[in-house]
Amino acid sequence: MSKNTVTITDNRNGNKADFDILDPSIGSSTIDIRSLHSELGLFTYDPGFQATASCKSDITFIDGDKGILLYRGYPIEQLAEHSNYLETSYLLMYGELPTQTEYQDFISLIKKHTMVHEGVKQFFDGFHHDAHPMAIMVGVVGALSAFYHDSLDIEDPRHREISAHRLLAKMPTIAAYSHRRAHGLPLLYPKNEFNFIENFMYMMFGMPTEEYVPNPIAVHAMRLIFILHADHEQNASTSTVRLASSSGANPFACISAGIASLWGPAHGGANEAVINMLEEINDPKEIPKYVERAKDKNDSYRLMGFGHRIYKNYDPRAKIIREACIELLDDLNINNTPLFDAARELERIALEDDYFLERNLYPNVDFYSGIILKALNMPLNMFTVIFAMARTAGWISQWMEMMEDTEQRIGRPRQIYTGATTRDYVNRSQR
Ligand code: SDX
Repeated sequence: MSKNTVTITDNRNGNKADFDILDPSIGSSTIDIRSLHSELGLFTYDPGFQATASCKSDITFIDGDKGILLYRGYPIEQLAEHSNYLETSYLLMYGELPTQTEYQDFISLIKKHTMVHEGVKQFFDGFHHDAHPMAIMVGVVGALSAFYHDSLDIEDPRHREISAHRLLAKMPTIAAYSHRRAHGLPLLYPKNEFNFIENFMYMMFGMPTEEYVPNPIAVHAMRLIFILHADHEQNASTSTVRLASSSGANPFACISAGIASLWGPAHGGANEAVINMLEEINDPKEIPKYVERAKDKNDSYRLMGFGHRIYKNYDPRAKIIREACIELLDDLNINNTPLFDAARELERIALEDDYFLERNLYPNVDFYSGIILKALNMPLNMFTVIFAMARTAGWISQWMEMMEDTEQRIGRPRQIYTGATTRDYVNRSQR
């Protein structure tokens, strides 16, 4: 029985070495290539890290071929049906579903951290009136490290936990304030009588002049969006948080880096980009033109909300949220608007078109979450902010896990140098 290794032979000189295969609890095995350069003088090349494991993690498992997503072993379908965002956040952070007592204690703990320092509220006055809320989130979340010196010792597990709780609790408040200030609306203090999602909706849409009654249809849809977006393994923004943290930077700065990475339209910015795309298409009869553009190799245009680096089957989150999307449009009786007609027609065409089928390009979670948020009249520039709020649970969980991982070191990828070979300086008079 051969050892659990692979042998790499450099055919240029016959040098070879064995490398251990590391087996996961589920999923693909991994070659441990940490000694590759010392053994064979070679590096690996993997732009976009399509085949590279950056860490070991117990938190989230994805099987892109089978369309499986597990949070700490629990199928996303079951959590979407039975759980809520804070319970799911607890699961991601601590590894187990909370008992009733643990759950109540966690809820009351988070509620104690939802307010921000009054000095933080001044920041919002300084931004340009039409600043994108994601730009505000990047700035304000990073600046929290200027306020919480009592919990910045990242070597202290208790400090790490306090910072994680503060980030989870304060994101909705900062998010709502990012919207309110841009519209000249008063910043409302969080209200502990509301649950996490209701509180966000209150701070977003409430008025000091009247009682705010959360819309149960909207709260149900947002609950789903938050659970489905809570974590997703080593995606671009989570990898950004891990890389920033690997140098020992404080958690507020690292989460701010994650927010910045999420903002890109290829990642979390896709939900906003989906609506911009559908509004540009507007008339379903125009769709074939856009589909042809998306296929054209000379055109960088891509259909927003389609495709995924990992899922080469249907994104399980998209399956779940697609049903909620159909229900919501029915509940709100807004089925027949040009935008939603265009969305349905685009989905139909993409699911029948060979180009998309051959490349396993299915509608992803952002396609349907964008439509849901639009149906809820959520401001378009808040779509990715909502994704960032939800993903905070994943970012802080992955950060806490990494800070306890004894194998982790500062992240420092190598490169293939393709620049000039050594050459001597030439005086300007002789050039
Ligand atoms: C998220 O990583 C995560 O887990 C992310 C996320 C999370 O929860 O954190 O799931 C959230 O980011 C979801 C993805 C949201 N992004 C979008 O919807 C933007 C549109 N999608 C594409 O930009 C793209 O599909 C990516 C970025 C999502 C994936 O890119 P890959 O894996 O690098 O895919 P690729 O570029 O190698 O594409 C493979 C082929 C290419 O064609 P060929 O060169 O093989 O001929 O598919 C084509 C691509 O041109 N293609 C598309 C397309 N996506 C890929 N063609 C048209 N429209 C698209 N959307």
